[in-house]
Amino acid sequence: FGYVNYLVERSREDILNTLLAGLSRLEYRGYDSAGLTVDGDKTNESYVVRQVGKVAELRSLVNESGFDLNRKFISHVGIAHNRWATHGQPAARNAHPQRSDPSSEFLVVHNGIITNYAAVKSILESKGYIFESETDTECIAKLLKYVYDSNRNLDFKKLIELVLRELEGAYAVLVKSVHYPGELIAARKGSPLLIGIKSERKLRVDFVDVEFPEFSVTTEPSAYSGLSDDEEGSASGVPTISMSDMTLEPPNPAGLLRTSTALLGDGGLFVPSPGISDLRHSQSRAFISDDGVPIPTEFFLASDLPAIIEKTKKVIFLEDDDIAHIYDGGLHIHRLRHEEGVSNIRSIQNIEMELAEFKRGGYDHFMLKEIYEQPESIVNTMRGRVNFENQSVKLGGLSNYLTTIRRSRRIVMIACGTSYHSCLAARDLFEELTDIPISVEVASYFIDRKPPLFRDDTCIFVSQSGETADTLVALKYCLERGAMCVGVVNVVGSSLSRLTMCGVHINAGPEIGVASTKAFTSQYVALVMMALLFSEDRMSKLQRRKEIIDGLGTLSEKLSEVLELNDVIEETAEAMKDKTKMLVLGSGYQYATALEGALKIKEISYILAEGILMGELKHGPLALVEKDLPIVMIATKDKLYDLVASSVSQVTSRLGEPVFITSKNGPRLIEPTKASTDGKVAARAESDYVKFEVPETVDCLQTILNILVLQMLGYWLAVKKGYDPDFPRNLAKAVTTR
Ligand code: G6P
Repeated sequence: FGYVNYLVERSREDILNTLLAGLSRLEYRGYDSAGLTVDGDKTNESYVVRQVGKVAELRSLVNESGFDLNRKFISHVGIAHNRWATHGQPAARNAHPQRSDPSSEFLVVHNGIITNYAAVKSILESKGYIFESETDTECIAKLLKYVYDSNRNLDFKKLIELVLRELEGAYAVLVKSVHYPGELIAARKGSPLLIGIKSERKLRVDFVDVEFPEFSVTTEPSAYSGLSDDEEGSASGVPTISMSDMTLEPPNPAGLLRTSTALLGDGGLFVPSPGISDLRHSQSRAFISDDGVPIPTEFFLASDLPAIIEKTKKVIFLEDDDIAHIYDGGLHIHRLRHEEGVSNIRSIQNIEMELAEFKRGGYDHFMLKEIYEQPESIVNTMRGRVNFENQSVKLGGLSNYLTTIRRSRRIVMIACGTSYHSCLAARDLFEELTDIPISVEVASYFIDRKPPLFRDDTCIFVSQSGETADTLVALKYCLERGAMCVGVVNVVGSSLSRLTMCGVHINAGPEIGVASTKAFTSQYVALVMMALLFSEDRMSKLQRRKEIIDGLGTLSEKLSEVLELNDVIEETAEAMKDKTKMLVLGSGYQYATALEGALKIKEISYILAEGILMGELKHGPLALVEKDLPIVMIATKDKLYDLVASSVSQVTSRLGEPVFITSKNGPRLIEPTKASTDGKVAARAESDYVKFEVPETVDCLQTILNILVLQMLGYWLAVKKGYDPDFPRNLAKAVTTR
């Protein structure tokens, strides 16, 4: 999170509060340590505060810091960060900002992973730099200082450009430096970054639309010594870092420009290419009024919307390889490299979300709020898309691509975590309705294998955040092979939604709880709608499609009925909370429910829960069954009911302790048993077992009702065990690193 105020007077206290509030709203993205930096009392001085733990602990440390909180700043740059550890354990020294040197000349906050950091570090160490942390981020800060010390005439943007060219991997970075007071650099590649803009006056944006020409590339002598191919040859075993100063020169800059004006909000911003530094003046006009008077402006930079929506609704989403440079109250976006097909206009979008959508609204936890939102969120997923009267489905984002998709020789669904489970849940229906072979892939394993893929394959990428690195890498692979790439995404404007050729937004609203709940049910509804749409032309499926569409129409009220089980689920969780392991069994459509239910339970209550296909029980897991092992059996009525009943008797005859999710008024599951003659085993009837009875719906939609029970069970187990379900240890909501 970053905050820049320009010609807007703010006390240090205001600035710290803005930074801490922004961090709190991003806490779900990472929460093992936090840090921030603001200007110090002397010129060329930055204060840095870093701490292991959540933002509340950082706030306490700030309160104890003894900073002069009343000190006023007319212009100021502050940056802050929540960390989810990748390199180096959670420790203050590994928290961000990372510094270039003990006097903190350059300070960097970073999401992502610099994959060649070991090579950069080893070269810098050979130049005398002493690393203080185990993070990959530190090499960015130290490299900035190294390059800066080699040539102090570089402007901030040029400096970062030279540094970024040496880094491999993924990043969203914010950089602040005492050498460039009042300036902030923000750059992204593979990790999301957005800029909120707030200004006191109505603005005009002069934007310049540049047509990228064929650039000629010239190599100038290195701007600084060392770190070149010559000096650090690969003979030493250290991968070479080349640091030649590449300048891209357009043949005739002046002839390339078209200028026009637009109002802030529907305008765009000029994105000059590297090397067109003479245009810097015209870019500065972006936030200067007609009469040339500088306008008080504030910028809020963040990796996600919740952090800025309270402050402004006007947002620019940066693209990969964008470098944003803020100085003199102006925003200037440059490209690190030009890539075919990447637009050079970044428009300012008006975000319609309200802060309330990111607040807990009376619930103890985001997770519980999101569980309770599901009767409404699934309706939002279907709104304007399912016509219940004429039994049709319309998905605007796919309409131009339907013929291609229907002609695919294969559909490959690719996702991670909960989103993977929604794909798995939808596979049966896709197969049944479309008759197209379907495969479902965990993104990371898919990338490991790099399986054969063809132009007539359709790949469906499902992701709540749209930023999961594994899924994005898989997408890149599929795009390169010319497959049709379709996204199913919750976060509007996310990388996945922008990089796929077409897709469906699930419209579930912001999901903050790390354990995904409403995104799962909405993803599933979106996939069901897609299966219905893809099979629209198949007369033989007419009756089945009608049955499913009718089922979708009554799903919301049935979900509300399931929510009424909350109290009995809470009681059951109280009784179960000391268990250390648990099985969740399902078959057919309910196999994915079992996997997702087990994931919910393990990720927030830390009980070792395993989701098992009922048909596989006798091939191994039955060995685990014994008295006292809780076994959740998903036993709602469907065509596999006989198999379910047989699994139930396999479990009860081994004295396992099933907990049932069954259909209201469903058939009997258990025949009464008599007490054993030695009195060791008591007589049991079905009514002796815990049962969560849910309403019945069409078989393929039953998942949505059943998973709700397991989401609530997971939630209550965590709460009863004293854990915070919104912040499961070691996990992050969006995993933007591989
Ligand atoms: C992380 C989250 C999971 C999520 C998975 C995929 O592991 O903790 O809850 O299911 O990423 O995230 P996505 O945003 O791609 O759906």
